[in-house]
Amino acid sequence: MNVIVTDNPEQAFQCIADMIANEIRRSSTPVLGLATGRTMENIYRLLVQQHKAGALDFSDTTSFNLDEYVGLAPTDLNSYHHYMQNHLFAHVNMQANRAHVPNGIAPDLEMECARYEAAIHAAGGIDLQLLGIGETGHIGFNEPPSAFDSRTRVVHLDEVTRRQNSCMFDNDPDRVPSHALTMGVGTILDARRLVLVAVGKGKAAIVNEALNGPISEAVSASAIRLHDNATIILDTAAASDW
Ligand code: GLP
Repeated sequence: MNVIVTDNPEQAFQCIADMIANEIRRSSTPVLGLATGRTMENIYRLLVQQHKAGALDFSDTTSFNLDEYVGLAPTDLNSYHHYMQNHLFAHVNMQANRAHVPNGIAPDLEMECARYEAAIHAAGGIDLQLLGIGETGHIGFNEPPSAFDSRTRVVHLDEVTRRQNSCMFDNDPDRVPSHALTMGVGTILDARRLVLVAVGKGKAAIVNEALNGPISEAVSASAIRLHDNATIILDTAAASDW
C-alpha cells in the first residue's frame, strides 16, 4: 500500500486527476471505476478542465460507478446518475452507452445487481477504481459489516451515512433513501488498481482506523490493505491521526 500525503486538498485532487488522466492515455480501452461525494467533485472539475484544454480524450473510456440510491430515477437531482452527468459526463466526450451507473429504479433490483456485475466482467474488469471513504468506513456504500467477498447488492444505509449525505437532501436525513445499490467489497478488490482519496480533519479518525486498525469487516475500507496495487492519497488534515 502506497500512502501519499499532500500539503493541501488541491494537491491531493490534482494528484488523483493526473493518475486518472494517465490511465486514460495509457490504455486503448480504459475502464474506470468512479465514485461520488463532495470530494470527487474536485477531481471531476480537474478532468473536465484537461478535456476542455484538449489534453484528454474520453472517447474510448468505459466507466462503472460504485453505487446509486434505491428509488431515485436517473433524472432525480439527488441521484448519482444526475451527479455524474452534472460533474463529468455532460462535459466530456464519453460515449453515453459506456458510462454505467447502477439503476436504482430497476423493477428487479437483484437482477440489476447481477446485470451490473456481468457488465463489469464483459468490459474486461476495472483498471482503476476511484474510492472515497464515508464516516462509517464505507467504500462505495458498503456499510460495516460488509463481507470482503461481497458483490454488487442492495444495502441498508447506516444512519450515520444518511446524516453525512443529507446535505444533498435539504439537510434532512429522513429524505436520504434508506437503501442503495453498491458494488461489493469483493467487486472493488477485483479492480486492478485502487486509489482512495480523503481530505479534511473530519476524515482523520476513520482514515486512521482503516489504515492502522485491524483489517476487519467492521471497517470496509480496511479491505484495501489486502490489495497489491492500492494508493491512498490524503491531505495533511486527513492524515493527522495516522
Ligand atoms: C458517499 C459515497 C461514497 C463516498 C462518500 C464520501 O457516501 N457513496 O462512495 O466515499 O460519499 O463522500 P464525501 O466526499 O462527500 O465525504
